[in-house]
Amino acid sequence: MRLSVNVDHVATLRNARGGVFPCPVEAARVAMAAGADGVTMHLREDRRHIRDRDLERVAAEVDTRLNFEMAATEEMVALCERLRPPACCIVPEKREELTTEGGLDVLRAGPYLAESIRRLAGLGIEVSLFVEPDAAQIARTAELGAQAIELHTGTYAEASAEARPALAAKHAEAARLARSLGLQVHAGHGLSYETIAPIAAIPEISEVSIGHFLISTSVFEGLPVAIKRMKGLIAAARG
Ligand code: PXP
Repeated sequence: MRLSVNVDHVATLRNARGGVFPCPVEAARVAMAAGADGVTMHLREDRRHIRDRDLERVAAEVDTRLNFEMAATEEMVALCERLRPPACCIVPEKREELTTEGGLDVLRAGPYLAESIRRLAGLGIEVSLFVEPDAAQIARTAELGAQAIELHTGTYAEASAEARPALAAKHAEAARLARSLGLQVHAGHGLSYETIAPIAAIPEISEVSIGHFLISTSVFEGLPVAIKRMKGLIAAARG
């Protein structure tokens, strides 16, 4: 199972100060050096975290399996055609949402979704659609010609510990169905140390995409190291 590290929130932190630090491109390099199998970046229409230049630099400079997460708009499809990442994940996008709130409704999608898949897949890009673990949505994803599906694990990840096993079973069933239809199966959203195991145990899932938890927990896991180093620099300057 591949782990694709979503570095969007490194850019959130950078943008909070309007400077260049912390750099999501550097985060992509660090993620790969630490054993990640790929990097995900979501370029939103409002550019609230990742910016065009971040994505272009990772595509050009970092040796990674870049997964470009994007809405099916002409602007994003054209950019994806230009950058030609190995993978892209099409998500629904609303301006007012804090994060992607759910899967695409592929049953109601207009012709543009199928057209986007055709254009991108025609360039050899692996196209996945972000959907709920729902049989009808999965069957339609296969019909539309996508190569992969990313199961939205947000509801599972936010559920109580008691409710999670039944929701994990739903993901396992959805993953089996998707594989039987020839789709690669990915999963992501909201996963953490506490919730990863039941999803990682589903053999049909070949990739998980994790961002917010990894970036946030790095603050705590990395803070002791940074504090010790700063104290060392202060002590050295004082003689
Ligand atoms: N997969 C998709 C399609 C997403 O939109 C996101 C959030 O950007 C993720 C995975 C990662 O979710 P999280 O940041 O909660 O780990």
